[in-house]
Order: sequence, then C-alpha cells, then structure tokens
Amino acid sequence: SNKCNRLVDVGRRQFMRGGAFAVAGAAAATVSNAPAQASPANAQLDYPSNRLANIADLTINEPVDIEYPDAESPGILLKLGQAVEGGVGPDGDIVAYSVLCPHKGWYLTYNAEDRSLNCPGHFSRFDAEVGGQQIWGHATQNLPQFTLRVDDKGDIYAEGCSDLIFGRPSNVL
Ligand code: FES
Repeated sequence: SNKCNRLVDVGRRQFMRGGAFAVAGAAAATVSNAPAQASPANAQLDYPSNRLANIADLTINEPVDIEYPDAESPGILLKLGQAVEGGVGPDGDIVAYSVLCPHKGWYLTYNAEDRSLNCPGHFSRFDAEVGGQQIWGHATQNLPQFTLRVDDKGDIYAEGCSDLIFGRPSNVL
C-alpha cells in the first residue's frame, strides 16, 4: 500500500541520515583542538511558534501528523479526551510529540488502544498520557513533547520542546 511504501521510505531516509550523522561526528572528532564556540549544553534555544491545526480539526484519539520545529522533525498532534501532563485547550487534553524514537531515530507508531507510541526498531514504548515517559526500552530520555499554546480562535501553536529531538546537537539549528 501507499502507507507501507511511505514508511519504508522514511526508514531508508533515516538510515541514510544516521549514516551521515556518524560520519560528521567522526570528522568533528579529528578537529577538536579548536575552542568550543557553540553551546551544545543548551538544548532549548529559540523555538519558532508554528501553527499546527485548529481544535476543530481534532478528533479524540486520532493523531494528526505534524512537523516541528522544522520539516525534518515529524510528530503527532493528539487530543486524548482527558486532561494530561502538558495538555492544552479547554479540556487540557491536547498534546504533541516527536515521532522519532530517541533511541536510534526509528519512526514511532501510535497505538490508540493504550495511548502509547511504539518503536518498530527495538520496541521502545512511550506513554502519551504522561509526557512521553518511556514505558519500556532503550532510550536514555523520554519522548520529546512539544510545548503547545491555544489562542482564542482555537488555533494550536507549537512553541517549544521538552527534550532533545533524535539526531540533533540542539533542537533549533
Ligand atoms: Fe526505537 Fe531503538 S530506535 S528502540
């Protein structure tokens, strides 16, 4: 199906991106005599404010694909139907997460039955109802949750991120 092809494509791209990242890392290691100028410890820099959707676009427990803070960072926007950690909107139930697994960057899928994000790579699981906490797995951090704001028209904006998105030295380059 088209969906399968798309997922295969995403996997292939992530594989290639992972390879490029490793090469860049190796190259950087050979020139480490230069004084550090960047601030890699500061994972949260200036985030853009990006409109993702309107509340009226959302159906409970049906994730909407988003990209934040840029097109290389896929995620989901999700209305859970009950107030949760980091939830916004009149019901406090709208959240958004990266769908790049913090372990090695595989593309997570949403399980509507238990409201978790699941990795086909090495089977890490993250809880969408408690801020992306890892339920089980290999990652050394929870799933990045995007900080949301809703304006008086019901437009939902992403304006930050809780943790480092996979593959990045900082979330905003
Ligand atoms: Fe997700 Fe390894 S990439 S568990």
